[in-house]
Amino acid sequence: MLVETRVRERIESGKGITTLIFEAPMAARPGQFVMVWIPGVDEIPMSLSHIGGHAGITVKEVGEATLALSNLRPGDMVGLRGPYGNGWKLDAKRILAVGGGVGMAPIIPAVEAVGDRGRVDVAIGARNAGEIIFEERARAASSDVRVTTDDGSHGLKGTVVALADAMMKEKRYDMVLGCGPEVMNRFLLKACVENNVPCQLSLERLMKCGSGLCGSCVIDGLRVCADGPVFTGEQVLGMKEFGKCKRDDAGLRVKL
Ligand SMILES: Cc1cc2nc3c(=O)[nH]c(=O)nc-3n(C[C@H](O)[C@H](O)[C@H](O)COP(=O)(O)OP(=O)(O)OC[C@H]3O[C@@H](n4cnc5c(N)ncnc54)[C@H](O)[C@@H]3O)c2cc1C
Ligand code: FES
Repeated sequence: MLVETRVRERIESGKGITTLIFEAPMAARPGQFVMVWIPGVDEIPMSLSHIGGHAGITVKEVGEATLALSNLRPGDMVGLRGPYGNGWKLDAKRILAVGGGVGMAPIIPAVEAVGDRGRVDVAIGARNAGEIIFEERARAASSDVRVTTDDGSHGLKGTVVALADAMMKEKRYDMVLGCGPEVMNRFLLKACVENNVPCQLSLERLMKCGSGLCGSCVIDGLRVCADGPVFTGEQVLGMKEFGKCKRDDAGLRVKL
């Protein structure tokens, strides 16, 4: 689906992190993403942080396109292409959802979709209090939400992987969902293997078509846009490039 739509609401979700709610609806599965066209700037992949009556995304400013998106105001126009990707599998009995920074964007619709307090626990992490997002939404959907910051300004001091590891040792989970910077995903995968808990990780790579055609997002033969962005722990364990390198605009491998 390709729609032109306007920004309905702009919310400052955190420091340098902005949520945009659009006029257009979007029927999608938690964990899917859209290609967002910012007129005159670029088209970039963004996870859907809001699904249903009004599509929504949550943007962290890292460069030109994300800055332009963050600066949009109600009434401004964008194009949305999608939804793309596979999304999370949410059939496990006891789920631990782990989000690092803006990685909470695809995690929170999954937590809400499970919606059964007692079936999903949440570990949220960020560098500091200002970058913690969707804590209230998580608390409305889960009875065990824990927060960690690198500098201790909110919640426990430490990494979200250390928190998730402690939660896996304390409680029994059948599945971990994880999304965050690749280094976080790498250590989360290691912790899941050590605790013998299966996991699904949402990965990011440079995307052009978003729909499985151009090959720019390929990681070890798998297209992140079409075969992912959510991969099982077993799939990720088999990826030689995971945690080590990605491809640049020209398709060349660059170290992470
Ligand atoms: C499936 C998918 C879902 C995504 N969902 C979200 C989301 O919900 N919210 C969100 O904010 N971003 C998300 N991203 C990442 C987002 O698409 C990129 O941050 C964006 O394309 C960068 O564009 P730019 O022009 O602002 O920065 P660029 O000019 O492309 O990059 C600027 C600098 O930031 C670095 N950079 C680029 N991408 C990232 C990144 N992902 N993380 C950290 N540094 C980066 C570059 O290496 C460069 O140094 C997602 C990516 C994928 C593949
Ligand atoms: S972005 Fe083109 S194949 Fe994935």
